[in-house]
Amino acid sequence: MDRYGVFGNPIGHSKSPLIHRLFAAQTGQQLSYEALLAPLDDFPGFARNFFAEGKGANVTVPFKEQAFQLADELSARARRAGAVNTLMKREDGSLLGDNTDGAGLVRDLTVNAGFALRGKRILLLGAGGAVRGVLEPLLAQQPAVLVIANRTVAKAEQLAGEFADLGPLVASGFDWLDAPVDLIVNGTSASLAGELPPIAPSLIESGHTLCYDMMYAREATAFNRWAAEQGAARTLDGLGMLVEQAAEAFFLWRGVRPDSAPVLAELRRQLRQG
Ligand code: ATR
Repeated sequence: MDRYGVFGNPIGHSKSPLIHRLFAAQTGQQLSYEALLAPLDDFPGFARNFFAEGKGANVTVPFKEQAFQLADELSARARRAGAVNTLMKREDGSLLGDNTDGAGLVRDLTVNAGFALRGKRILLLGAGGAVRGVLEPLLAQQPAVLVIANRTVAKAEQLAGEFADLGPLVASGFDWLDAPVDLIVNGTSASLAGELPPIAPSLIESGHTLCYDMMYAREATAFNRWAAEQGAARTLDGLGMLVEQAAEAFFLWRGVRPDSAPVLAELRRQLRQG
């Protein structure tokens, strides 16, 4: 049976095995998929050992940059992201590194939420790995403008400079902005600590602005609760992005696109049950 897995440390709470096993059952694909605790001091050795037999792997915190270094060849989007979340062993034994995170976000927004990004004013909060990973696919949708706002403005400026050739990018501090936008994506890790990026409520146009937190939790995240209080038209969390990035990886490995909707519904059900 073809073997797959997800490398991380820690890895115990990963939802990837559940997601990929549901995809495999749904599409009739014969494969195994496990959560694999990779050692912090020898990710390359662990990954190479897995790929002596393994066909593909997802990569999560803190190994995405090391997976980028390990890959023999990179997709264009992985090269831009500077990080790899999906590895695939090819016929000749070489490892292809891809990054499906941004495609997962774009698919969750455009297909699942029915929100076209073309011509929209988008505000991205944060300038870490999570934001870097989604810039290329977001810009490929041709928004009117994409503003990157970050606590440390220099990091936003760095990203805006690096991706400026791909579309209309602007770097900003949180408190420099007040005009309403169409979409706000929270890519900071502030929600983990129950904190909010300090942005003006006027950025949300009541009944119009869509707010998206890349994080998810059993209850609505701090950012999504705040956004709903300001009158956001809709608030979405990152569970859909998680399932969609997995679907993109599954498609790369197996050439079959799973139906993500029932899998997302099952994950949401389990999350609510705790
Ligand atoms: P990730 O890979 O999840 O993006 P990261 O690279 O450590 O993690 O980046 C975390 C992001 O969340 C950064 O943009 C960080 O802001 P700084 O660059 O100024 O550090 C942002 N962040 C973390 N905690 C935050 C908070 N309480 N308020 C606002 N931004 C926060």
